[in-house]
Amino acid sequence: MKASNHIMNNLKRYGSWALVTGANSGIGLEFVRQLASHGMNLVLVARRGDVLAALAQELTREFTVEAKTISRDLLEEDAVEKLFQALSGIEIGLVVMSAGMEATGHFTKLSVGRHIQLARLNIDVPMRMARLFGEAMVTRRRGALIFVSSLFGYQGVPIAANYAASKAYILSLGEALNVELKPYGVDVLVLAPGLTDTPMPAQMPINMKKMPVTTSTPKAVVRVALRSLGKKATVIPGFINKFYAWENRLIPRSWPVKLFGFLINNAFDKTRRDEFLHTKHFFGK
Ligand SMILES: NC(=O)c1ccc[n+]([C@@H]2O[C@H](COP(=O)([O-])OP(=O)(O)OC[C@H]3O[C@@H](n4cnc5c(N)ncnc54)[C@H](OP(=O)(O)O)[C@@H]3O)[C@@H](O)[C@H]2O)c1
Repeated sequence: MKASNHIMNNLKRYGSWALVTGANSGIGLEFVRQLASHGMNLVLVARRGDVLAALAQELTREFTVEAKTISRDLLEEDAVEKLFQALSGIEIGLVVMSAGMEATGHFTKLSVGRHIQLARLNIDVPMRMARLFGEAMVTRRRGALIFVSSLFGYQGVPIAANYAASKAYILSLGEALNVELKPYGVDVLVLAPGLTDTPMPAQMPINMKKMPVTTSTPKAVVRVALRSLGKKATVIPGFINKFYAWENRLIPRSWPVKLFGFLINNAFDKTRRDEFLHTKHFFGK
C-alpha cells in the first residue's frame, strides 16, 4: 500500500476532524496542509485570525474539506476550557498541539513574565488540551494526540534552559500517555524535531549556520510524524538528530548539557549578546 494511502486509512480510524494549534505558521501550518490533503476537516487555532481565515479559504478551495477557524490567545485565562466548550458539537478525532514559544538567553536575564508565558504555552496548555480532549477520546474509544516536543527535550540546554525543560516535560507526558491511553483506543505520539526551517529559529539570537546540525523542512518533519502515528510513542526526524538524542543514554547526563552550552555560546549572535546575556561569554568570562 502506498504510504499516503496508509496514512489516510490510519487517520480515518480517529474520525473526520482534526484540531491544530499553531495552525498558521511553521510546523502547525504543515500539519494543517498534510492533514487536509488526507481528507481531514480542520479546526485551526492561533492568535492571528486574518492569517487563519486566509488559510481556511485556501484549504476549502484546494481540498474537499471543511475548515473552522478559532482565533484565540491560548495564554488567556481558561482559553483551553473555552476552546473545548466551543467545539462540543464536533467530534475531534485528532489533536495536534504545535503552538509554542522559545526564550533564548541567560535564564536570569530574561523576564520572569516571559518564563511564565513559556511555561504556560509549552506545558500548561498542551497538558490541559490532552486532559480534556483525551477524556472525550477515551469515552469514544478512539482518537489521537500529537505533542510537539523538541530535540532540546532530551537534555538540559544552557541559554535555552526553560524552553528545553518545557520540552522535556512534554516528552515525558506524551511517552507515559502513549502507554496509558493505548488500551482505550487513543494513539499518542511525541514529535521531537531538531532544527526546522520555520519563523521560530529565524528570530532566535543564534546563528544556526554555526550549529553542527542539519535543518529539516516542516514538510519532512510532518510526513515522518504522520507515518509514525499509531506505531511509535516518540519520533525524532533526521539521522543526526536521532544520534544526538540517543547517545545521551550512553554517557553521563552532564556531557550533552555542556556540549549544547558550548555549541550555543559559539553560535550566539555577537551583536545581540548584551540584550540576552549577562556577560560577553555565557560561561561568565
Ligand atoms: N522550528 C524548530 O526548529 C523547532 C524545533 C523543535 C521543536 N519546535 C516546536 O514546534 C512547535 C511549532 O514551532 P514552529 O517552529 O512551527 O514555530 P512558529 O512558526 O513560530 O509557529 C508558532 C505557532 O504558534 C502560534 N502561537 C504562538 N503563541 C500563541 C498563543 N499565545 N496562542 C495561540 N497560538 C500561539 C503562532 O500563531 P500566532 O502568532 O498567530 O498566534 C504560530 O502559529 C513549537 O512547539 C516549537 O517549540 C520547533
